[in-house]
Formats: sequence, C-alpha cells, structure tokens
Amino acid sequence: MKIIGTGRSHPSLVVTNEMLSQILDTSDEWITTRTGIKERRVISSENLEDLAIDAAKKALADANMEAKDLDYIICANVVNEFISPAMSCLIQGAIGANCPCFDLNGACVGFIYALEIAEAFYKSGKYKNILVVCAEEPSRMVDWHDRTASVLFGDGAAAAVLTEGDNIKATKMSASCSWDRLYQKHELQYSPYNTKPNSNLPLVMHGQDVFMFATRAAIRDISAVLKQSGHTPDEVDHFLIHQANLRIINNIKQYVKQPDEKFPLNIDRYGNTSSASVPILLDEVNKEGRLKRGDLIVMSAFGAGFVSGACILEW
Ligand code: COA
Repeated sequence: MKIIGTGRSHPSLVVTNEMLSQILDTSDEWITTRTGIKERRVISSENLEDLAIDAAKKALADANMEAKDLDYIICANVVNEFISPAMSCLIQGAIGANCPCFDLNGACVGFIYALEIAEAFYKSGKYKNILVVCAEEPSRMVDWHDRTASVLFGDGAAAAVLTEGDNIKATKMSASCSWDRLYQKHELQYSPYNTKPNSNLPLVMHGQDVFMFATRAAIRDISAVLKQSGHTPDEVDHFLIHQANLRIINNIKQYVKQPDEKFPLNIDRYGNTSSASVPILLDEVNKEGRLKRGDLIVMSAFGAGFVSGACILEW
C-alpha cells in the first residue's frame, strides 16, 4: 500500500515548561536538557474525538478522497473518555463513512502497527482504501503532581489515508513483556464478587529502564528493516522517530551516522504524543513540502509493553 494523504489536529492550550514549573518542582532548564521538550499541547475544553475527527477530515481532503470510499478505519488509541464504544466508531460516524472499524492499543507504536495491519489487509485483496487515525490523550493518564512523568507527554491526533500500492518495503514489529516498567491500571467499578483491591492509580513509569529499552529496540528495529529491504542508512532520506526524548533520537542518529537534516523534530513543541507522534511528524514534513515522491522514509517507535516497531517505505 501507499500513503496518499495526511492530517493532524492539536489541542488549543499550549503548556510551556515555565507554566509547569509554577505547579511542580521542576524547571525549563531540567526539562529541556533531559528531554528536548519546551512545550506541549494539552486537552482542556476539547474532546479527543474532536481532534481525531478533525485530523481524519484533513487527511481525507489531502488524499482527495470521500469518506464513503473508505473500506476500513483503524484507530490507534490508548485511552479516551469512552471505554466503549471504540474511538474508530465515533470517527466513522462523524466523517460519514460506512465501513467497518476497530481500535488498536499499540501504545506509542500504534501507527506502525496500523500500517503493518493495513498492508496485510491489502494483501488479502479485500480492502483498498484505509484510514488510520492515531489519537492520544496521555494528559488523562499522568498524575499532574508527579514531575517525572507529567512533563514528558502531550495530547494530539494525526491521520493517514492509505490505498493500493507497493510502497512499504519492510516492517519489523516486536514485543517483550515488562509491563511493570510503564503502565496504568483501570479503576474497578463496584462488584459484590470481586475480591481484588481497587487500583485507581495514574501512569507509573521507570524512566531509565524505558530509556534503555527504547534506544536498544529502535536501533535493532531500524537495522532489521534496512537489512530486510537491502538499503543502507545513506539511502534513507528521512528518519521519523517517535518524539519521546531528544537524547534517544540523538543516540539513534549517532548509530546510523546520518546528518541532522534527515531527523525532523517537533518534540520541543509537542512532547511525547504516544501513537500520534510519528504521524504528526509525517504530516508536518509532508505539509512543509519536504517529501518528494520516491523518498525513502524510516519510521521507528517504542512504548509501553514493551513494544516496538519500525518500517521503511517509499513516499
Ligand atoms: N524536574 C526536575 N527534576 C526531576 C524531574 C523534573 N521534571 N523529574 C525527575 N527529576 C529528578 C529526579 O527526582 C532525580 O533526582 P535525584 O537525583 O535527586 O533523585 C533526577 O532528576 C534525575 O532523575 P533521573 O530519572 O535519573 O533522570 P533521567 O536523566 O533518567 O531523565 C527521564 C528522566 C524520564 C527524562 C528519562 O529517563 C526518560 O526520558 N526516559 C524515557 C521516558 C519515556 O520516553 N517514556 C515514554 C516512552 S514511550
């Protein structure tokens, strides 16, 4: 398959490091040097589905496609105001599509998981036009009193329209369960039978373990897709890396020995927007006119699970 349209949508509220240092024992200097983040967008009066729908409409317009021509919608999402129904169903109704849809929770790797699933759908010969939407609201998960996790994340949504083509050259997905390094549990509703203690805790993160996993996994996955596709790092035009921490991105850059221009960044403006991170970046470079047909793009992401994934595709 190939990507023929992209779109993104951000909450209106900009939360700067200075604003966080007024409510937390932190500083712009600490956050900037440890992460590369200067500000992030945070949901206030919007609903996440509004952003998801907006991003989906923009991607359809960019692809010059009507919603009724979609054969499937996949939404990558970890959490939103609904546990049920799926976010993809809300998007399907709002954009006027009549195709089947489902949500996938691939943590920050959701977009790359969705691309791999879409590729398998095409190969089945059953579906042609697929809309992938990644919509994430980590501000709903973190404890805003906890300086270690709350400063890292931002909310946002992005979408891509896919159709028939032969542009995905290789993918590498993996999972290795270490759930207790980065997790959040659901709150239990009252049950007269359930004897387990309720857990109504915010996101728990062991930052250094996540950092080490992310760096190793991304280097391993990128090496695997380059090898599988027979390309060298020199031949790649753009490395779109999950915007979780600038130091992780710099480690990857050092490993592949490629110049800064090949690593577009927006972590300073949005922080870590989970699965929306890579497609937001993709939409930015697309709309800035930085992508030429035939360019080789490597995408890489990693997240809670641990899960990770990379792909190489031709634009
Ligand atoms: N402001 C100021 N100080 C902070 C802080 C903040 N926001 N958060 C933590 N600190 C303090 C710690 O309490 C610690 O203090 P101490 O030395 O007195 O104990 C000190 O800074 C160093 O903490 P440490 O955890 O060792 O920092 P670090 O260099 O590992 O950076 C992260 C922390 C979270 C930025 C880094 O580990 C990271 O980015 N990990 C990956 C997280 C991630 O990407 N998660 C999502 C994956 S999809």
